Amino acid sequence: IWPRNAGRDGAVTLGGIDVRDLAREYGTPLFVYDEDDVRSRARDYATAFHDGDVHYAGKAFLCTAVARWLDAEGLGLDVCSGGELAVALAAGFPTERITLHGSNKASWELERALEVGVGRIVLDSFEEIARLGYLAQQHGARPKVMVRVTTGVEAHTHEFIATAHDDQKFGFSRSSGAALEAVRRVLRLPQLELVGLHSHIGSQIFDVDGFEVAAHRLAELLVAIRDEHGVELPELDLGGGYGIAYVPGEEPHDPKAIADGLRGIVARECRAYGLAMPRLTVEPGRAIVGPGGVTLYEVGTVKDVEGLRTYVSVDGGMSDNLRTALYGAEYTAVLASRTSDAPPMLSRLVGKHCESGDIVVRDLWLPADLAAGDLVAVAATGAYCRSMASNYNHVPKPAVVAVRDGRSRVIVRREGVEDLLRLDAEVEA
Ligand code: LLP
Repeated sequence: IWPRNAGRDGAVTLGGIDVRDLAREYGTPLFVYDEDDVRSRARDYATAFHDGDVHYAGKAFLCTAVARWLDAEGLGLDVCSGGELAVALAAGFPTERITLHGSNKASWELERALEVGVGRIVLDSFEEIARLGYLAQQHGARPKVMVRVTTGVEAHTHEFIATAHDDQKFGFSRSSGAALEAVRRVLRLPQLELVGLHSHIGSQIFDVDGFEVAAHRLAELLVAIRDEHGVELPELDLGGGYGIAYVPGEEPHDPKAIADGLRGIVARECRAYGLAMPRLTVEPGRAIVGPGGVTLYEVGTVKDVEGLRTYVSVDGGMSDNLRTALYGAEYTAVLASRTSDAPPMLSRLVGKHCESGDIVVRDLWLPADLAAGDLVAVAATGAYCRSMASNYNHVPKPAVVAVRDGRSRVIVRREGVEDLLRLDAEVEA
C-alpha cells in the first residue's frame, strides 16, 4: 500500500520527491498522484482487454491532465454528468470514446452529448428513452445507446456503493422484465441505435463471482433479445467496481484474471446459444487512480484524551476525504516528514471540521512524539476523495499535484478564499 521510499532523514518520497519539498512548494493538504502508477494501471487494463474497451470512470477523479493521460494510454472515458463531459471536451478527449451515464440525465446533458457526438449513451429509465428519442429526432442524430440492466447480483460491499440488487435506483431490472421492455421501446425508435447492454454491480468489490454472475445474466438476456427480435446486440459493458487495497490484507484484482474470467463466461454462453461474441467494455475508476494517490496533511494539534486515545488533527478532513465518514472506509497513514523511534500511540486522525464524524483514519498507531508541523501521509486516496471534496465550513479544496521522475507539476490549482466568495451575489440588507 505504501509507496514509502525513505529519502533524506527517512522522510517519505513520492515520485522521487521528498514530501517536505512538496509541502513547502504547494502547501497542505495536498493530493499527490504518481503519474507512472496511474498510467501503468491504465495500460494493464488496456492490455488485459485488448480485444475490448476500457473506459475509465471519470467520477473517481477527473481533470484535464488525467483525461489526457488516459487518452494517451488508449482508454475511453465514462462520464456521468454534463460537468464531467465538459472536462473531457476541454481536454480534447475523442468524443467517440466517451460514454455518457447517469441515472437522471438532464435534457441539456443529453443535448450536449448529441451535439458533440459521444460514442455511447447508457439509458437508465423509460422517461429517458422517450426523452432521448425526442431529442435525437430534433437534432437529426442517431446516437448509439445501451440499456442499463440491474442484474439482481448482491455485491459484497457497502450498501451505498452496491448497485445491482433490486431495491435501488439504477437501471432496468432483469427479474421484473423491465430490461426486456426497455429494449422493446428502444428498438421501436429508429433514431436510436441499440448496440448493447450495460451493468455495473457496485464498487470496491473483491469477490469476482459477482461480476461473473452479472456477465452470465447479461449474456442470457442477449439470447432472449435475439429470440424475440431477431437482433444480436454487438456489445456488453460490464461496468467497473474492482477493489483496491486500502489496508494490508486486501488483495486487489489482477486485470488479466478479470478479463479472462469475464471473456470465458460470455464466450461459453454465446457458444451454447449460437451467438457471436459481443465486444466487452469495462469501466474501472478506483482501480486506475486509487492506489497512485496520496494525501499530505500537516499536523495542527495533538490531543491526548486520557485513557482512550490521542486525537491528531490535520489541516483538512471530511472536506477532502468523505469516505471514512460516509462508508466507514479504512485507510492507513504514516508520519511522513521524518522517522521516529518514539513508542507507538493509539491515535485517531481527524480533520478541522465542526463534526465529531470528521475522521480520516479511525484507528492507527502513530509515534508518541508526533507534534504540530509534522507531515502525515494517507495512502490510496486517489479515487473518490478529491472528486467528492466539498467546501464544508468554507474550507477551500486542496491542490492536486502530479509527480514523475523527480519532477512535480500542479494539475488542479488550490482553491483560495476568493474562490469561495466568487459566486456570492452582491445584495443589500
Ligand atoms: N461504471 C459505473 C456505471 C459506475 O457507476 C461506477 C461507479 C463505475 C463504473 C466505477 O466504479 P469503480 O471501478 O471506481 O469502483 N463514491 C464511492 C464509489 C461510488 C461509485 C459509483 N459508481 C466510493 O468512494 O467508494
